[in-house]
Amino acid sequence: MSMKNLTADQLREMYLKFFESKGHKIIPGASVIPENDPTVLFTTAGMHPLVPYLMGAMEHPSGTRLTDVQKCVRTGDIDAVGDSAHLTFFEMLGNWSLNDYFKKEAISWSYEFLTEHLGFSPDQLSVTVFKGEGVEGEDGYIPADEEAVEIWKSLGIPDERIYRLPREDNWWGPAGTTGPCGPDTEMFIDTGKEKCGPDCRPGCHCGKYIEIWNDVFMQYNKNADGVFEPLGRHNVDTGMGVERTICMMSGAATVYDTEIFAPIMAKIDELSASGRQSGLGSQLSDEEELKARRIVADHMRTATFILCDPKGGVKPGNVGANYVLRRLIRRAVRYSRMLGIAPGFTVKLAEVICDKYSNVYPELKENLEICKADLEAEENRFNQTLDKGEAMFNKVAFQLKEHGQSQISGKTAFKLYDTFGFPFEMTLEMADKAGLTVDKEGFDEANRKHQELSRTTSAGSFKAGLQDNSEVVTRMHTATHLLHAALHKVLGPTANQKGSNITAERLRFDFTWPEPMTAEQKDAVEKLVNEWIEEGIDVSKKTTTVEAAKEEGAMALFGAKYGDEVTLYSIGDVSKEICCGPHVTNTKELGSFKIKKEQSSSAGVRRIKAVIGNM
Ligand code: ALA
Repeated sequence: MSMKNLTADQLREMYLKFFESKGHKIIPGASVIPENDPTVLFTTAGMHPLVPYLMGAMEHPSGTRLTDVQKCVRTGDIDAVGDSAHLTFFEMLGNWSLNDYFKKEAISWSYEFLTEHLGFSPDQLSVTVFKGEGVEGEDGYIPADEEAVEIWKSLGIPDERIYRLPREDNWWGPAGTTGPCGPDTEMFIDTGKEKCGPDCRPGCHCGKYIEIWNDVFMQYNKNADGVFEPLGRHNVDTGMGVERTICMMSGAATVYDTEIFAPIMAKIDELSASGRQSGLGSQLSDEEELKARRIVADHMRTATFILCDPKGGVKPGNVGANYVLRRLIRRAVRYSRMLGIAPGFTVKLAEVICDKYSNVYPELKENLEICKADLEAEENRFNQTLDKGEAMFNKVAFQLKEHGQSQISGKTAFKLYDTFGFPFEMTLEMADKAGLTVDKEGFDEANRKHQELSRTTSAGSFKAGLQDNSEVVTRMHTATHLLHAALHKVLGPTANQKGSNITAERLRFDFTWPEPMTAEQKDAVEKLVNEWIEEGIDVSKKTTTVEAAKEEGAMALFGAKYGDEVTLYSIGDVSKEICCGPHVTNTKELGSFKIKKEQSSSAGVRRIKAVIGNM
C-alpha cells in the first residue's frame, strides 16, 4: 500500500474510527485553557485533562479506553518557531489505556495504523525506547524498556532502527511538577535527507528524522519530593501530532507547506505583497522572510484559538497566560511589520483561520467577533507602543550623534524596553540601520537584575497560591456553578458563561451581558448563592449524552464536536451543568460566597471575581 495524502479533517476521522474499532470511546477534546489547574497556563498534551483518571483518583465515565483530538498550546519552544516543525499550537491525536491494555497493544496498534491505514512504509520508520537508568538494587533504578524493543522487533523493525536513549529523550511527563509519567517509545519518519553527521539519529534536530507519535507507558508518579514512585497502574498515553503527520504524508518540506497552513500563508503573502507595493517593510534575506512568514502564521493561529476558546477568560495582558497571549500577538505584529504587512492584519488572519477550522472547532465561529475585537485592540496598542518607541529611539540616536558617540548603553536600551515596551530586537535593528552599536551585555545585565528582583517579590505569593490547592479549587468549582445559576435567575438566560478561571484565591467568571450590573443585581446574586450554600444541597453526578443533557435543560459549553458521553453535575434542582468536575458533595462545604468585583471583560462580556469563605 502506498502512502495516502490525507487532509487533517480526514486524518482526525480515521484516527478516531481506528481506535473506536479497538474498543475505545471517543471523548471530546478539552479546552485549551485548563480547567481547575492553576499550575499550568495552557493544555499542553491530550493527557493533561485526564490526569485524575491516569492517577486512578476517579473512574472515567467513558471507561478505560479513550481516544480524542486535543488542541494543545506549548510556548516553551517559542524561539524555535520558524524552523520546519515547531509550532506553538498543534492538534494531538491520542489514545489512552486507563490501567487497561499496555505495551503490546499500544505499540502494535500504532504500527498497524501507521503502516496499514496511513500507508507509511515500515522502512521509513525508526523508533526510540528508554535505555534505563541507575543500578539494579539501588534507589532510583529504572530498567531499560527491553519489552518495547521486543515488541518492535516482533513487528519487523530491525535492531539498527531501534534506538535506546536516555531520560532526556525517552521519558515523558509529568505535565506539571508532579503527576503521572513514564518511559516512552517514539516513532520517527525518515525524510530521506542525508545524515547531518555520524551521530545523526532520531531526536537530532537537523530535520532528517521527524517525530510524529509518542506512546508513553505511565507506570510512575513523580511525587512532591521529586521521587519517581511506582504508580501501581499501567496506563498508556499516546500523542500523534496532526500537523507533522500531514506534513510527512504529503511529502511537504515543512508543516507550513501543508494544506493546513495553505490558506493562512496565502493570506500573509497577499497582505505582504500589497504592503510592499506601498513601500512598507524591511529589507530581508530569503531566510529571514521565510522565518517571519512562519512566525506570523504560527502565532496568529495560536492567538486565535486561545481567544476563541469556549472556556475563554484569557486576554492580552501582563501576567501568566494573558502575557503569553500578548507576547504571541505582539511578536506577530513585529514580524508583520518587517514583511510590509499594513496594520489591521490580525483580524484578517483570524477570519482565514476561523474559515479553515470552524467545521471541527465551532467555537472559532461562535467567538470570532470577540476574538477580532481583542486582536484589533492589542494590535493598535502595540503599534502605538512601537511608534512611540521609535520616536524615543530616534531622539536617543540623535543625541548620541550630537555628542559624537556611536554606542547605545545597556541602561538606555533597557529603559526603552522596560519603560516604553520597545522590544530589544527592534533597538538592535534600528541601531544597525542608524550605524550605531548597542551594549548587549549591559542590556542583559540590567535585565537580569530586574528579573531577580521580580522573582524574589513573586516567590511568596506563588507558594501561598499552591497551598491545599485541590480542595479549595474543588469548592470554587462548585461555587462557579451556583454563580452561573444565580446569574440566570437574576439576569435571565442570556447571561451565559463565556469562560472561567479558578485559582486557590478566587474564582473568575465571564458571561455575556451588555452593561454593568446594578448594586441590586449583584446583591441578589450573592444572596441567592449564599442561600443555596446555607440550604446544604447535595451535588450529584451521572453519565449521560449531550443530547439527553440538553433535553434536561443542562448548561454547558457545547464547543467540542467529538464524543457524546458526558458527565452531568446536578446541584438539587438549582443547577445542571455538563462538566468534568471535580465538585464538593454538598453545597454546605463552600462556607460562604462573596462577589469582590464586577467589571467589563470585553465588548458585551462582563467579569465577576468572587471568593468563598472558610467552612
Ligand atoms: N503525552 C505524550 C506527549 O505529549 C503523548 O508526547
